Amino acid sequence: VDASPSDRIAALLTSFPDCPEPGVVFRDLAGVYAEPGLLAQLAGHVTRHLGAGFDRILAVESRGFVLGSALAVLAGVPLTLARKPGKLPGPVYEAAYDLEYGSDRLELQKGAIAPGERVLCVDDVLATGGTLSAAAALVEAGGAEVAGLAVVVALAGLGGRERLSGHPLLALHEVT
Ligand code: PRP
Ligand code: ADE
Repeated sequence: VDASPSDRIAALLTSFPDCPEPGVVFRDLAGVYAEPGLLAQLAGHVTRHLGAGFDRILAVESRGFVLGSALAVLAGVPLTLARKPGKLPGPVYEAAYDLEYGSDRLELQKGAIAPGERVLCVDDVLATGGTLSAAAALVEAGGAEVAGLAVVVALAGLGGRERLSGHPLLALHEVT
């Protein structure tokens, strides 16, 4: 049975008001990751939902690495890491973005993704969508196709879904 994991996520998610700065409610997934078997259930839900619709995972540093790794293992597809500035050796593509509390940049090694591949971009939380739109831009810079976007939690009201409306989005839980 492909039970939706949304209720389990809701029960384990914790909220920290005014963190890391006033006005931001930080949604902490520590309890979700600590729950035995849940990460496997989350990855299973995504793979059943998307089937063979992607050739590679692009996981976003740092909290996107967790679901991204589990998915790559389960789906048996290659895992590539999009990293914060200055971490990756050799030539990179860069994409700058704003987020709920600041701005940042993501990088992808040139040649890491093959042209024409269908790439699933994975992160833990969708807020403004800045991070995942940068990840999608990196995929496209590499001549590949964004097969979709997958997150554990999507935060409503911050414009993320609207900003990413050009790509299929799978959120395992929505916080309204
Ligand atoms: C957080 C989160 C997402 C992003 C979501 O990452 O893990 O990557 O913000 O926000 P957005 O939709 O507004 O872009 P953060 O930059 O705090 O880095 P971390 O994962 O390394 O903690
Ligand atoms: N990333 C961006 N905004 C966030 C939030 N409110 N909680 C957790 N992660 C986030």
